Amino acid sequence: MTNPCVCALQSASKLSTSANLTVASLRVNYSNQGLDETQLTPDPIALFSTWFDQARSAQEHEPNAMCLSTADESGRPSARMVLLKAFDQRGFVWYTNYQSRKASNLSRNPFASLTFWWPTMERSVRIEGPVVRVPVEESDAYFHSRPPSSRLGAIVSDQSKEIKNRQLLELRWQELQDAHLDDDGQLTRPIERPSHWGGYRLIPDRIEFWKGRSARLHDRIVYQRDLPELSDHNLDQLAKLQWATKRLQP
Ligand SMILES: Cc1cc2nc3c(=O)[nH]c(=O)nc-3n(C[C@H](O)[C@H](O)[C@H](O)COP(=O)(O)O)c2cc1C
Repeated sequence: MTNPCVCALQSASKLSTSANLTVASLRVNYSNQGLDETQLTPDPIALFSTWFDQARSAQEHEPNAMCLSTADESGRPSARMVLLKAFDQRGFVWYTNYQSRKASNLSRNPFASLTFWWPTMERSVRIEGPVVRVPVEESDAYFHSRPPSSRLGAIVSDQSKEIKNRQLLELRWQELQDAHLDDDGQLTRPIERPSHWGGYRLIPDRIEFWKGRSARLHDRIVYQRDLPELSDHNLDQLAKLQWATKRLQP
């Protein structure tokens, strides 16, 4: 008699072999439009700004979505997507829950990496550096610019903590809505930013621009600089620091 477990394993392995063959054959050829040294700006924030605008014009889906990588105190990495909400000479800002897994990582190991991927443009950008919390006034201003439902969403979720079922979350959500919104979704009382929700700013000391090229001979240009001891007071001075660039092999 055929053992059903063996049969199941055999068909699972056949499936994974054919799926893997298909995965292995997936391949996109990039165009030959490149990134050369003549396109570089003295500071990489200006070049990022140009690439970001071009990604928006190319109608990339959520061009501000970026993969945020952190590591815990033992060096174990974890990565997740977040949305870029501001950038300038002081750094790159996103908002989240200060009690989440990423926040726990950052409290013990305050360095992170951000990766953007804009497939239509065949471009990627990697940004690395130390991370600080944004000042509370900045978090307040952004929090109050969000629609009421997003503000309540920030309150309702103990992000990254276990919850027994979704109904509990929806119950909490309904209670908060009843307490803050009328039947037309209009606010009946102010929604304060919870202290466990706010922004982080990554202060870049390394930014790599990647452009896909044909035959896998991609362009990679990296900007690097040394950062001084950081405080809220000297962030505005960062624009004066010089960046060095070099080309990396693909
Ligand atoms: C496109 C996209 C954008 C996201 N943006 C955010 C964000 O801005 N802030 C956030 O806290 N989570 C965001 N999330 C959810 C996170 O990826 C993640 O699930 C959540 O932050 C919990 O991560 P953690 O447990 O590692 O802290 C986003 C997810 C996706 C797919």
